[in-house]
Amino acid sequence: MTDFLDQAKACPVLGPAAADTTGGPQVSGYVAYARMDDLHSLAVPQTEAPQELSFILLSHVKEILFRMIYVDVDQARKQLRANDAGLACRALERTVRTQRILVTTWESINSISADEFLAFREILGTASGIQSYMYRTLEFALGNKNPAMVEMISGSMDLYPELSAELAGPSIYDEVLRYLARRKFAVPDSLCDREFREQYAGDQRVEEVWLTIYRAPDRYPEEHRLAELLTEVSYQFSHWRATHLLVVERKLGSKPGTGGTEGVDWLRAVNDHRFFPELWTMRTRL
Ligand code: HEM
Repeated sequence: MTDFLDQAKACPVLGPAAADTTGGPQVSGYVAYARMDDLHSLAVPQTEAPQELSFILLSHVKEILFRMIYVDVDQARKQLRANDAGLACRALERTVRTQRILVTTWESINSISADEFLAFREILGTASGIQSYMYRTLEFALGNKNPAMVEMISGSMDLYPELSAELAGPSIYDEVLRYLARRKFAVPDSLCDREFREQYAGDQRVEEVWLTIYRAPDRYPEEHRLAELLTEVSYQFSHWRATHLLVVERKLGSKPGTGGTEGVDWLRAVNDHRFFPELWTMRTRL
């Protein structure tokens, strides 16, 4: 215990903040470093409904996890650009671990029953997760380029420069294909230099590339590891969507969403989308 306290004094996070020269109350190092006071001040329920605070806190948790995942996807993309598949895979391993945490956060929302949710749903007005610019930035970074979804986000695109940049630039999958082309796999040039703003639909020739790798994993161990991690990222993303759909059906049945869609039917259609499509379709031919 004493050891821990000694270490804590030397730690920039746990140790005490620098002396307060104003004579005001002191904020400890942990609270000051990560601005915990600011963080906690953000969760402000607008009704007396006891579950509203949990709902807001869980929405914050999810946003933070979207961002953590985005940071690692971006890292993986940078490492691929630098031809370091090993470091790209490390970043994708972190991505997947955080995605698993994200999926389990639905458990807490499930503890709010349909009637408890309805006690504060009205206060949401037209607010919906569909307007999450961090979620959309992550989707674009992974390759689901659907510019129409940007219109769902209130405010101008200029408010979110990262979102605009992600729409215009190469996704991680574009960088994977370029990396494979540099490694002399038969990825067509037209795919390496395509209009990145457009939705990538999948290509038979890329399916052939993945088949080559999966038919000889001992010959292409690094590419095979990369493919498995990408598949896991895609799987975890779809897992999140599928669980969200179930949670929504459990709360709302077939009521329309606050964001303007018909609700579960719309989400069901979204559930059909797969990131890195040829990694899924090639399985039929393997
Ligand atoms: C009781 C809980 C929830 C319900 C009933 C619910 C309901 C819905 C519905 C109906 C939609 C479709 C769009 C619309 O018309 O609103 C939607 C979309 C969405 N929700 Fe939720 N939601 C819940 C919790 C959350 C939470 C906590 C988050 C995370 C912050 C979230 C993130 C999203 C996202 C990102 C979309 C857009 C999905 C896409 O574009 O593929 N939802 N939600």
